[in-house]
Amino acid sequence: MSAPIKAIAFDAYGTLFDVYCMTTLAEVLFPDHGAALTTLWRDKQLNYSHIRTLSGRYKPFWEVTADALVYATTRLGLELTDEKKRRLMNQYACLDPFPENRETLAAMRDLGLPLAVLSNGNRSMLEIGLRFSGLADYFDHILSAEAVKKFKTAREVYALADQAFGLPPEEILFVSSNNWDVSAAGWFGYTTFWVNRDGQCAEVLESPPTASGPLLSDVLGFVRERQG
Ligand code: LAC
Repeated sequence: MSAPIKAIAFDAYGTLFDVYCMTTLAEVLFPDHGAALTTLWRDKQLNYSHIRTLSGRYKPFWEVTADALVYATTRLGLELTDEKKRRLMNQYACLDPFPENRETLAAMRDLGLPLAVLSNGNRSMLEIGLRFSGLADYFDHILSAEAVKKFKTAREVYALADQAFGLPPEEILFVSSNNWDVSAAGWFGYTTFWVNRDGQCAEVLESPPTASGPLLSDVLGFVRERQG
């Protein structure tokens, strides 16, 4: 029989916060390159976080994000002035939530479930982002990879959630829009939900999500079925 869901942990960037809304500002600053820059910036940010973790060279996600921006602009042949860097990083600090997120989180709280953010973001970055997006009050725990000085997909990062909730992993639902993050959380032992917003193809990592859907609000139906 499937375990009941007693708590939920959410990835932040791309799941709670819309990282791709950066495209609008990137397009203003670098006409015709906004989409390419945003995609390469994100990919490089994750790539650097993985390299740093494998090599034991942690530095805060905010700095990793800035390094990735420098790389992405250089690679695309774009001139990143101090002013442009400041504007892009300022916007990254204050990302919009996806439209359905506030209402969905409120409904999850109404079900009586404790909620956490479990993210690579360093603590101050997460606190600012959650305050700006109006999501801060929904969460019981802000769990940052900074606590273990490693990034996902290190098991120590995922372990922050079962430690915080004091529950067995299978009774915690981990929700992310990153399929690789969902796969690693599944390997850890969590029940998982993949928010597949853009109809992406699944990773080939023999750890499929327990369930998936295109919107954060789709998590609600799954949780209602599985609540203990
Ligand atoms: C995070 C990145 C992986 O918030 O989206 O952890």
